[in-house]
Amino acid sequence: MRLNFSRLNAGGWIFLSIFSPKLVVELGMGDGTLLETLAKCDRHSTYIGIELNNEQCVQARSRITLSNVIIMNSSFEDIVPTFLDESIDQFIAVLPDPALIDEKSEERWKPFYRSAYSKLKKEGRLRLVTELTDELLQPVSDDRYSAWADWLKSCFISLGFTPVGQQEGAPRQYLSRCINQFSGDPERIRMITLDLLKQ
Ligand SMILES: C[S@@+](CC[C@H](N)C(=O)[O-])C[C@H]1O[C@@H](n2cnc3c(N)ncnc32)[C@H](O)[C@@H]1O
Repeated sequence: MRLNFSRLNAGGWIFLSIFSPKLVVELGMGDGTLLETLAKCDRHSTYIGIELNNEQCVQARSRITLSNVIIMNSSFEDIVPTFLDESIDQFIAVLPDPALIDEKSEERWKPFYRSAYSKLKKEGRLRLVTELTDELLQPVSDDRYSAWADWLKSCFISLGFTPVGQQEGAPRQYLSRCINQFSGDPERIRMITLDLLKQ
């Protein structure tokens, strides 16, 4: 059966929560390259990709034929609050748009991650891959990078998350269009991967 919902109703959601061993949600999945890779390696779990851009969703739907993938063409800010509380095993956010992660718009994006936290099961995780660039496009110094990493962690701690993993760059097995682009200039675009746990 191919699941291809644009929106899950409560019944569908309860069905998935009961029958899928794991529910993983990718926020802003782009063309779904990463979602496809992860879903291929873990056929018993359900992978839900949410993406605002219609063209990217059309592209992903035409390419991905896996029965354990659901693609939702919508804003994750609208969709995530409709999920059942404590129903999600993992959220993945790879290179979210600046408005949804940067320092200037902290007050705008924090309520969204607070809502995502409430949707995670206990021991569920948010894996966040994000990037720091210099406004003048100069290389990012180690001091600046580490102050930014500390600020980022403190934001998520204030939302209830416990940081349980941190590495510079994206995980080696994570391939996506934007990771490929951003990896081309590692001195000016410094990425971080944070694993954030709900205890
Ligand atoms: C920088 S791209 C990263 C895409 C993908 N994760 C990758 O690594 O290739 C950010 C993506 O988030 C999507 N996006 C931005 N705001 C969104 C929202 N509120 N809901 C769903 N998708 C959103 C954009 O359309 C874009 O595809």
